[in-house]
Amino acid sequence: MTAPRAVPIRSSEPIVVPVALAERAYDIVIGRGVIATLGARIKALRPNAKTVILTDETVAKHHLAAVEDILAAGGVASSHILVAPGEGSKNYATFETVCEAIIAARIERNDLVVALGGGVIGDLAGFAAASVRRGLDFVQVPTSLLAQVDSSVGGKTGINSRQGKNLIGAFHQPILVIADTAMLDTLSPREFRAGYGEVAKYGLLGDADFFAWCEANWRDVYAGGSAREHAIAVSCRAKAAIVARDERETGDRALLNLGHTFGHAFEAGCGYSQRLLHGEAVALGCVMAFQFSERQGLLGGNSVARVRSHLADAGLPTRAGDVEGGVPNVDRLMDLIAQDKKVKRGKLTFILARGIGEAFVADDVDAAEIRAFLEEKIAE
Ligand code: GLY
Repeated sequence: MTAPRAVPIRSSEPIVVPVALAERAYDIVIGRGVIATLGARIKALRPNAKTVILTDETVAKHHLAAVEDILAAGGVASSHILVAPGEGSKNYATFETVCEAIIAARIERNDLVVALGGGVIGDLAGFAAASVRRGLDFVQVPTSLLAQVDSSVGGKTGINSRQGKNLIGAFHQPILVIADTAMLDTLSPREFRAGYGEVAKYGLLGDADFFAWCEANWRDVYAGGSAREHAIAVSCRAKAAIVARDERETGDRALLNLGHTFGHAFEAGCGYSQRLLHGEAVALGCVMAFQFSERQGLLGGNSVARVRSHLADAGLPTRAGDVEGGVPNVDRLMDLIAQDKKVKRGKLTFILARGIGEAFVADDVDAAEIRAFLEEKIAE
């Protein structure tokens, strides 16, 4: 007989952030140990549902057994599907394997897919859920900081095309997000720091007070405890508010892309490798968006210095020279930027800022000015 596996104990009341999307509304439940409530919450939302958990081999080692026990304790039947860890799993072949495995697990329209993992798993599980039987409900259990503050919320799901990232996908909202901050304890320090790039972004794009709070409290966020929960809750509230007013990104939701146009170009230029993680690229991209905004005369004072010194203190790259192995030349970067955001008559769309917490969508940025700016920054 095997010994019962340990189920984590919840240590504090969770923070619940609602995502107000009418008939697609759902809660994000945040806190240390909240995974222990997964079975009961699923039972309350879908009393007769069985579940299939999609996870990767690395996350499975840390969390799968405990999650299966929690579901069983809540009276929820589960099976699981394992995929290889990493961005490489967001491809057609793995998507097919996952869809076939969901069907083989006899998951019907009233059942649930559970995404247990980081952004790759959430995107893949969400898109499979959107597709199998023309749409299954799903629950997000994000296990990385980046997934807890960004990718698990808002319903963007998908896989990569040979021609670019996230080009095949669907908007498909989860019915519940369980963000257990204790699950972040198993992340490497570098992965945690990369997720923090997305946390700081919320302050930079729309909440100067939160950015000031981050400057004062980031060490406590890294250490865990209530500061970490607060940072995740503020980030999720900010994202939930933007998603509630612009679910399909016809306007304001683009603000969430602050730092992403420069960032994606560097990330793609590094082959989406360990040389530059997504959150690191976003941090570098945010510094550049503020520097470019200053160069355009949009902001002054000490904003650029604050952005740069906070992100550097937090251990994130803030200049092109910080990227391991260097960055591509300006021609390649301009090609990558053009692929990421369409150029219309020499004009590009970027998220720029008039100050910390005052980002806006600029759809008339001169490509020649971006080129001159990048030439300067690459040489620094
Ligand atoms: N990660 C950007 C968005 O969800 O819109």
